[in-house]
Amino acid sequence: MNAKIVATGSYLPKKILTNFDLEKMVDTSDEWITQRTGIHIRHIAEEGEYTSDLAAKAAFDILDNAGISASEIDLLVLATATPDMPFPATALFVQEKIDARNAFAFDINAACSGFMYALSIATAHIKAGMVKNALVIGAETLSRITDWTDRSTCVIFGDGAAGVLLEATDDEDKGVLSLVLHSDGRYTDLMNMPAPGSRKPCSVEAIENRDIYIKMKGNETFKMAVRSIVNVSKEALDLVGLSFSDVDWMVAHQANRRIIEGVTKRVDLDTDKAIITIDRHANTAAASIPLALDWAVKNGKIKEGDLILLNSFGASLTWSAGVIRW
Ligand code: ACO
Repeated sequence: MNAKIVATGSYLPKKILTNFDLEKMVDTSDEWITQRTGIHIRHIAEEGEYTSDLAAKAAFDILDNAGISASEIDLLVLATATPDMPFPATALFVQEKIDARNAFAFDINAACSGFMYALSIATAHIKAGMVKNALVIGAETLSRITDWTDRSTCVIFGDGAAGVLLEATDDEDKGVLSLVLHSDGRYTDLMNMPAPGSRKPCSVEAIENRDIYIKMKGNETFKMAVRSIVNVSKEALDLVGLSFSDVDWMVAHQANRRIIEGVTKRVDLDTDKAIITIDRHANTAAASIPLALDWAVKNGKIKEGDLILLNSFGASLTWSAGVIRW
């Protein structure tokens, strides 16, 4: 038994924030942001639009593209670092919004690697015969935890949601061929959001210290990203006896255009084979890989039989790769 992606889908909030808008908010420039990150615009959720709303809209798109109803879904895994609230899981709000009444639903948080972790859990459930299908969604409203006075982080992030429908298949040559996940808890200080949590419950002090926003040592994170992504991608390809020259498309977490190009330059992979959406999506953490995947499918890049390499790197630290035969 294997798990195969049979449909993708996405949703991006209507509101757009450009680099020129950011020039008016912090001491930055379109030139700096474009050169250092590759980002031009990012989508921002409206007031009253929650992570579960974005995820539900992405779920409807996936279901439409798959031609099935929500009541046929067995499992719903939502990857997010920006849940609607600490509990219940945001996946349950999504379950209610799409009326996936026969599914069981839960959240997973591995920051920018969240979609890959969720994909691996859903794949394992399918391979074990516990479910016949799974909606796997990454959704974020990072704008809610962004410090809009901190130029080193506020120019990077965006909001959005996207995902896939995984289905059981007897065809072992199709679908998820390998998935490798890594984490290293020694680096939790590289990127985090200190409050509110059991270490720092909600307090005036936490708000005044701006601990309720993303903190990131961007340059240190950057230095570890390329090497880690190259190594984990090799691991995932080695597991199935393939190499970079077999890859038709690399769909990477969109953290920084320079990271993606740094990876392709270090391996035997044409940069044109990397799907790039960071220019218009920015870094949407757990939503970024499925957003890029959905864009590539809808724009006729990814075709039946293609070999897809997925890879991610995120806080703090998580990294992963997967090989999929479409
Ligand atoms: N506008 C103008 N100047 C800026 C800005 C800005 N928005 N931000 C920083 N600078 C300045 C800095 O102050 C510094 O100035 P100085 O040289 O006078 O001190 C200079 O630009 C260089 O700063 P760096 O931090 O070294 O810039 P860098 O080239 O590393 O780019 C960036 C920063 C874009 C954050 C990059 O380091 C990066 O992409 N890091 C990886 C992020 C990542 O992958 N995170 C994990 C995934 S996200 C997740 O898990 C949710």
